[in-house]
Amino acid sequence: MSLALPEHVTFDGLDIAFDSRVLRPRPWTVAQAQWAASLLTDLPPGPVLELCSGAGQIGLAAATRSQRRLVCIDVDPIAVHYTAINACLAGLDARVEARLGRVEDVLMDDERFPLIIADPPWVATAETHRYPEDPLLAIDGGRDGLSIAHDALRAIERHVHEAGLALIQLGSSAQVAALMASGSGSLRCLEVRSYRGGVVAMLSRAFGG
Ligand SMILES: C[S@@+](CC[C@H](N)C(=O)[O-])C[C@H]1O[C@@H](n2cnc3c(N)ncnc32)[C@H](O)[C@@H]1O
Repeated sequence: MSLALPEHVTFDGLDIAFDSRVLRPRPWTVAQAQWAASLLTDLPPGPVLELCSGAGQIGLAAATRSQRRLVCIDVDPIAVHYTAINACLAGLDARVEARLGRVEDVLMDDERFPLIIADPPWVATAETHRYPEDPLLAIDGGRDGLSIAHDALRAIERHVHEAGLALIQLGSSAQVAALMASGSGSLRCLEVRSYRGGVVAMLSRAFGG
């Protein structure tokens, strides 16, 4: 029997606990958290949503710089467990809600968020063997790597505040283009930033688009 022993990393100053059953926090994603935090100063009031939150470190690092509530969603009960632990470690448990379920199942119709952070799996199934250390649920994005990203895009379309923004993490600019081409046209991509481990795209509503 293999044991999953808790580990800790420092992520943008936060103590983050996790184990081998969830994705190890990747240092490059601090940039996504810091980008999110910088946007929060100018966005309308309201809670932050993180889709596919894993151990929760990206949303927590963004939320810790504001007074906003944070809603984290993940389909993996172990990830949700660690998000709750990490919210406590960060002293944010009073304003963090960790929801268990699929992106498309656990948001109420009338919920709106000025900022949505999304970190869906984005590795094509045929390529997942290249990442033997990573749990399949965390990285397997289906045939083209975008299957959960499509669900995340639909959730953003439905739940981003009319003056809100989203930051979605994917593997490449080509994936961002393919994802946006598949959407309803109600969102536009304002900027894509590239990092050593992936890309982050900033989306807004496409007024008149
Ligand atoms: C790439 S990991 C991101 C983890 C963390 N946010 C990060 O960036 O390090 C993707 C996460 O999505 C979760 N996930 C996979 N399918 C999902 C679905 N349909 N709905 C919600 N979460 C899902 C996995 O459990 C995993 O924690």
